[in-house]
Amino acid sequence: RAPMSIPRLAEMKANGERIVMVTAYDHPSARIADTAGVDMVLVGDSGAQVVLGHDSTVSVTTDEMLVLAGAVRRGARTAFVVCDLPFGSTEVSDEQAVATAVRFVKEGGADAVKLEGGGPARLSRIRAVVAAGIPVVAHIGLTPQTATALGGLRAQGRTAQTAARIVDEALAVQDAGAFALVVEAVPADVVGVVLPALRIPVIGIGAGPADGQVLVLHDLLGITDGRAAKFVKRYAAIGDAMTAGVAAYVDDVRSGAFPAREHTYSASADAVEAARA
Ligand code: KIV
Ligand code: NA
Repeated sequence: RAPMSIPRLAEMKANGERIVMVTAYDHPSARIADTAGVDMVLVGDSGAQVVLGHDSTVSVTTDEMLVLAGAVRRGARTAFVVCDLPFGSTEVSDEQAVATAVRFVKEGGADAVKLEGGGPARLSRIRAVVAAGIPVVAHIGLTPQTATALGGLRAQGRTAQTAARIVDEALAVQDAGAFALVVEAVPADVVGVVLPALRIPVIGIGAGPADGQVLVLHDLLGITDGRAAKFVKRYAAIGDAMTAGVAAYVDDVRSGAFPAREHTYSASADAVEAARA
């Protein structure tokens, strides 16, 4: 497969070919996604919760995200790598956002960055990062970095006022120069109104059918514990398989079944003699 590119993503939208995106936070998961044929990998700040154990995405730092990004980049051969700019790394100014985005390209190997929000200050950030030559994926609807201000982790665009805001923001982030848009937790009927009005691909998560879909890898593989969001579909029970594997190892070590002869190095009789002396 040829490496995924922005023109190819635009062509996929034009042809009605659905774009598949999944999160990854390390080298093995990026390789798995790439080998499975995923088009775009997202180094999501959901990694704050999924792999770092925080309660929300706001805690993860740029330096932490860069470690995850580098590992994913080295594992993604053909997939297009998008990195989330974490909370606090873009809020201060356009200059701060550009400096952060540059680090994700230079140090993290990102093909593009993702910025949450479609309000006036966020549009200014998108324009600034795009002007610096870095492609931007916008993200509207439920934006977890500012969930407290939105009243919690809840679907957006279910009321007349918020639905109108979603439509306005979708058009505005496109005008600001985003080449793709993630829409999270918005009723499919509202997304359906926006879709025909946009030239750029819309990647949905809890947003009904769109030009593409994104899910958190650990959610779709069944590794995360606790109750999953309404929009998650589980395709495997890898968490159970991992627990069963480690439990079997625990049993084998305790019973002495592991290590067996075949896991052990041999030595010459001389070596054993010398060790005794
Ligand atoms: O961080 C993340 O996983 C995301 C997706 C849910 C879109 O931003
Ligand atoms: Na995110």
